[in-house]
Amino acid sequence: MKSSYRRRLAPAGAALLVLAGCADAALEPNAMKPDIGSDADTPIVTTANPDGRDPEVRARAAALDFSGKLRGTLQQAIQSDGVEAAVDVCKIAAPQIAEQVMLEHGVRLGRVALPGRNRNPRQAADGWQLGALQDFQAAVERGGAAAEQVMVQRDGLPDGVVLRMIRGIETETGCLACHGSAVAPSVREAIARHYPGDAATGFEIGDLRGALWVEVLPGAAQDGSDRHRGDAR
Ligand code: HEC
Repeated sequence: MKSSYRRRLAPAGAALLVLAGCADAALEPNAMKPDIGSDADTPIVTTANPDGRDPEVRARAAALDFSGKLRGTLQQAIQSDGVEAAVDVCKIAAPQIAEQVMLEHGVRLGRVALPGRNRNPRQAADGWQLGALQDFQAAVERGGAAAEQVMVQRDGLPDGVVLRMIRGIETETGCLACHGSAVAPSVREAIARHYPGDAATGFEIGDLRGALWVEVLPGAAQDGSDRHRGDAR
């Protein structure tokens, strides 16, 4: 199994980031610029990649789409109804947006946290995601930036998966209302209603909050209506 770890500089545009709700702070557009060299625009068509898009580009596009949609939904919910109501929105919207993005992009994707630091019990990291997240956590403890932790795996993947990507999600100021050490009692109540075993508070700015993972599936994504998909599957 071969994995490549990459580090990137923090995007200068990160300062522009406003409250991101339960969205993934690590995934603002600058951080998601494809970093696959000068031939990034040249489609490479292989059996595993029949639509001619590099799987890493597909993974990044899906991650960015998910993150952007979740971020927008949450921001709007917080602005119009407050943080407590946004907890409910996050619970409903996060899986729905994931579902929609998975279908559109032909990927599987989700968010995980270290077991014992997770909110949704289904999002405790396991298997390959746990290994990567533990590596990220160790790197952050050594002084690495949470949002710069990325692992891309191209080889040794199970059947039906052409690429795996996972990247760290950093705790930002806007996350503290629901993940910090001083979560307001009313917000705590809203969280406890849906997540009685919640262990996703007590985070500080810069901490690794969790990770966003993507598995790119063979075959065409449904989003590129500009491309003839034919019998790509
Ligand atoms: C309005 C409250 C709220 C805010 C603000 C918020 N979150 Fe969350 N977060 C939640 C809820 C609720 C969940 C569980 C959602 C689910 O069931 O998938 C969650 C889940 C997560 C998860 C998935 C792992 C887990 O523990 O279940 C990550 C990662 C995460 N949040 C990161 C962030 C980051 C980063 C920020 C700031 C940019 C943030 N959140 C801000 C409420 C919030």
